[in-house]
Amino acid sequence: MQLDVFTLVPHAFAWLTEQRPVAAVLGTELDLRLFSYRDTTPLKSGQVDDEPYGGGAGMVLRVDIVAAALDAAYGGVPRHRVVALSPQGRQLTQAVVEELVREERLTLLSARFEGFDERIVTHLASDAISIGPYVLSGGELPAMVLLDGIARRLPGALSEGSGELESFSEELGGALEYPHYTRPPEFRGWRVPDVLLSGDHARIDSWRREHVR
Ligand SMILES: C[S@@+](CC[C@H](N)C(=O)[O-])C[C@H]1O[C@@H](n2cnc3c(N)ncnc32)[C@H](O)[C@@H]1O
Repeated sequence: MQLDVFTLVPHAFAWLTEQRPVAAVLGTELDLRLFSYRDTTPLKSGQVDDEPYGGGAGMVLRVDIVAAALDAAYGGVPRHRVVALSPQGRQLTQAVVEELVREERLTLLSARFEGFDERIVTHLASDAISIGPYVLSGGELPAMVLLDGIARRLPGALSEGSGELESFSEELGGALEYPHYTRPPEFRGWRVPDVLLSGDHARIDSWRREHVR
């Protein structure tokens, strides 16, 4: 997949791209490109935002700035899916992640300040996604949430099988995963369930199915 992120803070992504699962698929299954709106703004001094018409607090990301960034990257509005990250978008779920993983090319637009000029969402983006019913200061964390969620579903991101049987997966019927335990078998009197120490895989499997939440 080619995943392009447009942001005012491209360096914010450095940590995530050095970690698994993103690092494991970069250069093979995932081609990640980070674009700064400031690199292509036609306005002076790297300006990208302006005061809202009608007044009010905060600054709004300008439509001509985002259009210029898309023009520079694609020669216009791309034909592939362009997602505006916005609290007003449809809510992100695992099903939405699975839908996005099927795309060969995907573009994420993030804003800061008061958000996007609405014409960006209407005319330049083809989808809008919210990562939850709360407001963050910028689209970088939402973009990273999507990037991580997508990367772990790409081939080679995780060790064999570990991405299949997880919370919200089809394998678990969309339910939450069963509890996990590791050594020590007892700590401060808190014991690991005996069945998990039994070595009896049929019993372990049925205990796990019973404890899906
Ligand atoms: C401070 S927010 C703007 C909030 C906007 N004024 C509102 O009331 O909905 C700035 C930017 O952060 C990003 N953002 C904040 N919360 C988000 C969320 N829950 N999901 C996706 N993006 C979000 C969006 O790109 C948004 O335009």
